Amino acid sequence: MKDYTRVIKRYGGDILASGGMRAERRFMQHGSVSTYDHSIAVTKACLYISDLLHIKTNKRSLVRGALLHDYYLYDWHKPHDGHDLHAFSHAGQALKNAQCDFKLNKIERDMIAHHMFPLNIAPPKCRESVILCVADKICAARETAAGIVKKLGRGI
Ligand SMILES: [Fe+2]
Ligand SMILES: [Fe+2]
Repeated sequence: MKDYTRVIKRYGGDILASGGMRAERRFMQHGSVSTYDHSIAVTKACLYISDLLHIKTNKRSLVRGALLHDYYLYDWHKPHDGHDLHAFSHAGQALKNAQCDFKLNKIERDMIAHHMFPLNIAPPKCRESVILCVADKICAARETAAGIVKKLGRGI
């Protein structure tokens, strides 16, 4: 895969340097992957998919929406912390937090709000959001599978 680090820094440098993203390094997303690392992986996958399929996108928004898609800023593994039904509610929380900390355009708002489609039933409206939906599921499956393989290696 092409090295997308530079384009991510160019369009999302302020996001990467934010306190919220620093906090994401402490929260685990899938298996032993932090929400921060998951968000970077998803952003790279979004850029790769759009290049691979020659999909014309707003690259800046693709990067920013992908980096912020899981900006819900809590540890979803800890119960009773006001975040029940995480899978259904975290896209809304991520959007709320991201709007507080950054100025988002329509594409970026749509990407964050609808990245859990079809679990959240309202479908995405932009092509950047569709790419994010696919990239997020690919990365989540890979990260979860890696966690399972690791546990199997230890005899679970
Ligand atoms: Fe998510
Ligand atoms: Fe995600």
